[in-house]
Amino acid sequence: MSKAKLNPISTIQLIELPKINSDCQGLLTPIYGRSHVPFAINRIYYIYDIPHGSKRGAHAHRDLQQLLIAISGSFEVIVKDGYDEKSFVLNNPAQGLYIPSMIWRELINFTDGTVCLSLASLPFDENDYIRDYNEYLNIIFSR
Ligand code: TYD
Repeated sequence: MSKAKLNPISTIQLIELPKINSDCQGLLTPIYGRSHVPFAINRIYYIYDIPHGSKRGAHAHRDLQQLLIAISGSFEVIVKDGYDEKSFVLNNPAQGLYIPSMIWRELINFTDGTVCLSLASLPFDENDYIRDYNEYLNIIFSR
């Protein structure tokens, strides 16, 4: 297995996405891989019907990069790089949170009706997940 790359928390960024206003008949946001997001988009998935009080995430990815977007509603993303921690509130469908590999993330405080879109750089692979926080810290600090 290739060595996981370390990414500091400063590499996590809110990306402003294009907004096209068609004659005041509503907004449209197109997203291109390798342009608006710094990776080729391999897979999309979305999380919805999220019960009140749900906590999602609680893992890091060894190689996968992704962009999270609150298509509707609002939620909070807590990100950790093993040293620092930061929190982002996502509530704007024209904004995406870019998360590189090897970042621990937790998604909390979903409002009712939230839809979270994820653009991912890789296919689903359970082996790419680190789901134990102590294992995550061990990997970070053993480098
Ligand atoms: P997970 O990535 O842990 O969800 P979240 O980060 O939103 O809490 O995935 C939840 C479950 O869904 C887990 O059993 C893996 C499965 N899954 C797939 O089968 N395919 C996918 O593309 C994704 C993202 C998850």
